[in-house]
Amino acid sequence: MALDIVIMAAGKGTRMKSALPKVLHRLAGRSLLQHVLDAARTLEAQRIVAVTGHGAEQVEAAVAAPNLVFARQQPQLGTGHAVQQAAPLLHDEGTTLILNGDVPLIEAGTMRALVQACDGRRLALLTIVLPDPSGYGRVVRSGDPVGGTIEGIVEHKDASPAQRRIQEVYTGVMAVPTALLKRWLAALRNDNAAGEYYLTDVVALAVADQVPVVATHAHDESEVLGVNSPVQLADLERRYQRRLADTLMEAGVRLADPARLDIRGELVCGQDVEIDIDCVFEGRVEIGDGARISSHCVIRNARIDAGAVIHPFTHMDGEAAGVHVGARALVGPFARLRPGADLGEEVHIGNFVEVKNSTLARGAKANHLAYLGDATVGERVNYGAGSITANYDGANKHRTEIGENVHVGSNCVLVAPIRIGAGATIGAGSTLSKDAPAGQLTVARARAVSLAGWVRPVKQKK
Ligand code: UD1
Ligand code: CA
Repeated sequence: MALDIVIMAAGKGTRMKSALPKVLHRLAGRSLLQHVLDAARTLEAQRIVAVTGHGAEQVEAAVAAPNLVFARQQPQLGTGHAVQQAAPLLHDEGTTLILNGDVPLIEAGTMRALVQACDGRRLALLTIVLPDPSGYGRVVRSGDPVGGTIEGIVEHKDASPAQRRIQEVYTGVMAVPTALLKRWLAALRNDNAAGEYYLTDVVALAVADQVPVVATHAHDESEVLGVNSPVQLADLERRYQRRLADTLMEAGVRLADPARLDIRGELVCGQDVEIDIDCVFEGRVEIGDGARISSHCVIRNARIDAGAVIHPFTHMDGEAAGVHVGARALVGPFARLRPGADLGEEVHIGNFVEVKNSTLARGAKANHLAYLGDATVGERVNYGAGSITANYDGANKHRTEIGENVHVGSNCVLVAPIRIGAGATIGAGSTLSKDAPAGQLTVARARAVSLAGWVRPVKQKK
């Protein structure tokens, strides 16, 4: 059976009190609308239509994809009016699944079950019983409040005190035979508390047409919670993070505190990985067997191999090029690894060391206060405290090549392009602008001079 999907995303989101359109607010690093779209894409629909309106250009630019079409809703006169704008883009045959752009955690299995319940001939609503149903549309049934026949949905604003006590709410997700949907949309009116065209009024129209109305239930409340305010957004973020944390722990990852973890992308962990409190993972991060991430690390687009230890307050951002930390390497505390930092096995990067677009071979060490940019560093190199590669001449970046087993003393400036031969030693405080030969000591600083007859000035007494 042919399936079309409509995602409503035109509303302003007044209760967010933000200049950003509501559906672009982020949950776990992805916009609310992107979450809904990603879920929708798992359903093999013949068409996905997103209804945009408030901040339409910004919203469309943020989520544009080849298989997605937009319908503009200008002005925004309610959810029914929103779907009216999408209607001409829907196929006449088949089923339409309607999703709310502000209900981000909807799961594929739940949507499938709803489409099945619709079966091309019924109106199927996704509902849930909430302990606190306030703000939501209530599902009104005849007789039995749970098993009775569905008669309609009443919006919170329009509900009587008795109706407000109903705990079964509409989640904003429905599956409808498309031909019937088009007919009902044309019959919607706006004589209600909000003066809007409510999509939820199609339920009463279905009842009047003697089309069966059925409800399926979401298995988990977080799946269907909507985001209308910063409080609800933060609440949903924590629930989602907890879900991710539980999945990691079930796979054996040891989290010091599942409530103090943030994953804004994809985190893939091997066996016996330990993660201390308050770490943030963004983009794609892979952590190998037995690796340990200490507290307060921010790690984005990085691969950390088995047995590596990342000490507290380390910041890694691989951007597009990625960061790689080799097996059993030690990094931090307070280290900064930038795009293209590629650390070999057992490399040590210590406090206040920045590495960008540089390869360090096995066993190389830069333990204190240093900068390595656009460098190739050989095995077992010891790179002294306060030393830097001067890789940028104001217009171009140049490379520094350091052979294996080189010892760079403290406070050196290696002016690139430059090569340091294997086994060389560079004296502390050297500013080196030409290559240093292998195996020799190279010192590039003024010699110390001692003046035997010099007298220190003394203050004159008055
Ligand atoms: C809606 C439902 C309510 C349900 C709740 C679940 C209606 C009338 N009410 O209420 O029964 O319990 O969702 O979360 O449908 N939108 C547009 N154009 C508009 C208005 C809204 O595209 O003119 C979009 C919004 O961007 C949002 C979605 O529709 O993504 C829902 O709108 P919102 O105003 O949040 O509806 P609720 O009051 O939450
Ligand atoms: Ca809402």
